[in-house]
Amino acid sequence: MNILITGSNGQLGSEFKDLSSKYKDYNFIFTDIDTLDIINYDKVEQFIKKNKPEVVINCAAYTAVDKAEKEREVVYKINTDAVRNLAELSSKHKFVLVQISTDYIFEGLNHKPYTENDTPNPKSIYAKSKHEAEIEMVFNSKRAVIFRTSWLYSSYGHNFVKTIIKLAKEKGKIDVVCDQIGTPTYAADLAFAILEAMPQIAKATSLEAYNFSNEGVASWYDFAKAIVELSGIKCTITPIETKDYRTEAQRPLYSVLNKTKFKKFFKQEIPYWRDSLSVCLKKNNF
Ligand SMILES: NC(=O)c1ccc[n+]([C@@H]2O[C@H](COP(=O)([O-])OP(=O)(O)OC[C@H]3O[C@@H](n4cnc5c(N)ncnc54)[C@H](OP(=O)(O)O)[C@@H]3O)[C@@H](O)[C@H]2O)c1
Repeated sequence: MNILITGSNGQLGSEFKDLSSKYKDYNFIFTDIDTLDIINYDKVEQFIKKNKPEVVINCAAYTAVDKAEKEREVVYKINTDAVRNLAELSSKHKFVLVQISTDYIFEGLNHKPYTENDTPNPKSIYAKSKHEAEIEMVFNSKRAVIFRTSWLYSSYGHNFVKTIIKLAKEKGKIDVVCDQIGTPTYAADLAFAILEAMPQIAKATSLEAYNFSNEGVASWYDFAKAIVELSGIKCTITPIETKDYRTEAQRPLYSVLNKTKFKKFFKQEIPYWRDSLSVCLKKNNF
């Protein structure tokens, strides 16, 4: 089975690359913007015709949440328009489209984990562009799976873990927001979960959305404390409120995802976030 992965130099795409040698039944085709710019409909169609993927996993995205507030046009091109193109092409060329979405599509006023049936109300440009991509998929794709995930990190790309380690080593004292609650997710766990789910994904007959994050709940403060503790770095971390840490984009105060649907359908267990963080920090030299 041919599996095309777009945006494969990013965090999630790189984790797919690392795991690919363990899945000998699949022929992986890894691309990024230099080899396959997902904005370009004609080029993507040519590529699909030539390589005949049965499944396309779209890891390509504009993910700089704050910068996105000032770059609306390009954000929508990558996160929404290109996904609509992929969705159209998936119907035309009969492949299953796997799209990665985000907990940020929720406003964050819940007090219990969001299910796939809760109503999105995205607040930032990034979140709106990702939500509109989901809507485009509803209208344009026949066989597709959306995985909504949260707070991704990895040894690859840019992420909170790397930022905290760098700042902790440089400054020895940092402030981190304690009133935004979610779940850190190791991108390697998401990549593994998707590959383990591939037999069911390949048989998709409609569009279905599933939440996937690591298990458990944390604030960014808890996450930062765990990062420095598990890395053995001496650093004082002070909890602060969102109101005292201004960012361009508004983020949900609560965006924990309910993963019951994923666990029931795919029959997979999900690792606890702190255990996965420990695996990531031990495996990789930050
Ligand atoms: N990061 C998170 O915390 C988080 C949370 C929830 C959901 N997600 C979603 O999870 C998915 C994977 O995220 P990630 O953190 O792995 O992202 P990432 O590290 O930013 O990787 C995205 C990749 O896509 C590439 N790309 C950008 N524009 C492209 C284009 N037009 N054509 C082809 N490739 C393009 C990027 O290249 P450049 O680097 O050169 O731009 C990069 O290699 C995304 O859909 C994201 O929205 C992420």
